Amino acid sequence: MQNKQVRLGVNLDHVTTLRQVRGTPYPDLQEAIRISEVAGADGITMHLREDRRHIQDADVYASRQVIQSSMNLEMAATAEMQSIAIKVKPDYCCIVPERREELTTEGGLDVLGHLSRMRDLVTALSEHDIQVSLFIEANKKVIDAAAEIAAPIIELHTGHYADLPEEHRAEELQRIDEATQHALKLGLIVNAGHGLNVSNVREIAVIPGMNELNIGHSIIADALFMGLEGAILRMRAAMDGEV
Ligand code: PXP
Repeated sequence: MQNKQVRLGVNLDHVTTLRQVRGTPYPDLQEAIRISEVAGADGITMHLREDRRHIQDADVYASRQVIQSSMNLEMAATAEMQSIAIKVKPDYCCIVPERREELTTEGGLDVLGHLSRMRDLVTALSEHDIQVSLFIEANKKVIDAAAEIAAPIIELHTGHYADLPEEHRAEELQRIDEATQHALKLGLIVNAGHGLNVSNVREIAVIPGMNELNIGHSIIADALFMGLEGAILRMRAAMDGEV
């Protein structure tokens, strides 16, 4: 049976990294959203980090007004972020672990260690019609915990897979595949992301039952040479096995 087309969520954080690094009004995030959607993005993702290093509060509110596909707000499990999410009402909230000094989101959420806080957050956001996704490692115990607290979606961390040289990826790929099948049996929706690029995305996109891939850094890097629309079209083709 053909896997239904895996959704592509385009993470636009690094459009605003470029803006913030010089304090300029450009590049324009809203224009990036428009181009991404024209190029076929199924959703727009942005991460409002505690240190506001790229996406700013105003970006989140303004983006909510213009996104026509779906909005996925990545955020830490803090009271501040919970209250912003409830005001913004994105379609999805992906809860991620966050440490100020990290270069990017470096590991999955410790759901088991913070079960009650995670349960409260899932419940609170769900009451506002926000679908919650938990960004976790491909680990069955963590997946069981996500199901136990009624998170509808998980996003599996593909960073370790992406960091491995191609000849050593098979084992990690199998771990992600098995985790996906385990989560699907529990009724969870399974997304994945982190470190994906046109050379490593296909193997993740063909995992049976995969719903969505969230991809940012490599798309923005490719956009430097081929434009944002070109980079998104190329990623879509790579996911579909056409490049
Ligand atoms: N998914 C999550 C939960 C993330 O935190 C990130 C990075 O912001 C991504 C996906 C996208 O990762 P990358 O920028 O490496 O494509």
